[in-house]
Amino acid sequence: MAVFPTLPKRFHGPSVWMLYAVGLVPAASAFYLGATGQLPGNAVKEFEHLLGLWALRFLIATLAITPIRDLFAVNWLRYRRALGLLAFYYVLMHFLAYMVLDQTLRFEAIVADIARRPFITIGMAALVMLIPLGLTSNNWSIRKLGQRWNKLHRLVYVIAAAGALHFAMSVKVVGPEQMLYVAMVAALLAWRAIRMRFLRSKRQQAGPIRSRPATEKAAG
Ligand code: HEM
Repeated sequence: MAVFPTLPKRFHGPSVWMLYAVGLVPAASAFYLGATGQLPGNAVKEFEHLLGLWALRFLIATLAITPIRDLFAVNWLRYRRALGLLAFYYVLMHFLAYMVLDQTLRFEAIVADIARRPFITIGMAALVMLIPLGLTSNNWSIRKLGQRWNKLHRLVYVIAAAGALHFAMSVKVVGPEQMLYVAMVAALLAWRAIRMRFLRSKRQQAGPIRSRPATEKAAG
């Protein structure tokens, strides 16, 4: 039984567009506050940090869709693509803020930073892995790639792990905030590892006749 009331079907499409619009508000507000001198401390760093944090939050939200459905019977699959793409846009903006505002496009310094500072190397690796996922997050690619699409998009777990590690390594002393994000990503990875066993035992409890729903197969 679903624990949340279900949204009428006619609101499904608009609610996805609403999510894109609301999802971009933190970036717009951080940009506005930065441009009007209202960000505390070093405005460039603060802007870069906010974008990085939201990137990680959207990555975590993307990965949370499947466990939420498994555990609470709430189907938010329709929002997964929007959440994943929002994560992608935020990582791109975070990277652009780093390149343009932080490093002022000094390419040698950027390359040296990526090569020499392990947390930036890991962040860059996450961005590189995220690009094919962002580019194939559309119906045409799903049709074209078939099963390979599912395999490719499993990379999102590696990307989230890299993002959380990058966050933890970006600070001198790992505090509660970094620990919380690392724990959330670890829990989502653990769920992925035990999910099939959980679903099998749930099916067995429900009785031998019930077959596996198609949506369950698509969720991988
Ligand atoms: C999936 C990809 C990425 C995620 C999720 C991510 C996330 C984050 C987060 C959460 C922070 C810390 C924010 C805070 O302190 O509040 C951060 C900091 C930072 N990230 Fe990323 N990031 C990613 C990719 C990148 C890339 C590609 C670069 C550049 C090549 C980069 C460069 C930096 C830098 C320079 C900092 C700030 C370090 C400082 O405090 O000086 N990140 N990132």
